[in-house]
Formats: sequence, structure tokens, C-alpha cells
Amino acid sequence: MIGVLNHVAIAVPDLEAASKLYRETLGAKVSEPVDQPDHGVTTVFVELPNTKIELLYPLGDDSPIANFLARNPDGGVHHLCYEVEDIAAAAAKLRDSGVRILGSGKPKIGAHNKPVLFLHPKDLLGTLVEIEEA
Ligand code: CO
Repeated sequence: MIGVLNHVAIAVPDLEAASKLYRETLGAKVSEPVDQPDHGVTTVFVELPNTKIELLYPLGDDSPIANFLARNPDGGVHHLCYEVEDIAAAAAKLRDSGVRILGSGKPKIGAHNKPVLFLHPKDLLGTLVEIEEA
């Protein structure tokens, strides 16, 4: 059901420093920051030949990554995103298998203008997983 790894998201305490690290030290292609008000984050995308890294920084007062950064002040891997062909079918199969879908359970439009859902880390080996309809 899941396809390619769309991105790995890393929550960072300093978006400018993180962008510089990926651009200059690691020599990657790094985008400008983009605010995602619906998701409470500002994102920077790092393009790699086979996938992307998404640098996440809190936006607004109740950012979903604020607690994560409080627990991980140096930053840390926040979630993985797998592509699926049909997000409604994937969600139905996951629900039938006992995997909890976070939030309203309805897909939101994600950072790449595609429908996304987040899945409960306790049901997926302690890893927050995002699925994105590709
Ligand atoms: Co993501």
C-alpha cells in the first residue's frame, strides 16, 4: 500500500541555522521558508536525489511541534511521510487494522498541496507517520 518515502521531517529550534547547515555544510538544495498556517509550522524543504527532508519550525501559539521541541531542544526526527495512491482507501484499511488516525480523521491539505493524514505513533512502532496521496 505505501509507496516511496516522500520526506523525513525534522523539528528544529532555529530554522535559519538549520537551513544553513543543510545548504552550506551538507551541500543540499534548500528552499526558502514557507509558512503553513493550517499546520502550525514553517517549513523548509531540502531536496535530495531520492527524497526530501522537511525542516519544521513552530508557527503560532499552539503549534503541534511546540511540545516536541520542548522535549527535544536540539531538534529531532519528527515524522516520516509515505506516499499512497488513494488516501481514503489507505485510511479505511488502516482503521480496519486498528491504526488510529490523528485529528479529525479527515485528510488535510499538506505542505505539498496534496491530502495528508497523520497516524498515531503508538500504533506504528513509536514513529509518527504521515501519509500523502501522491
Ligand atoms: Co510532513
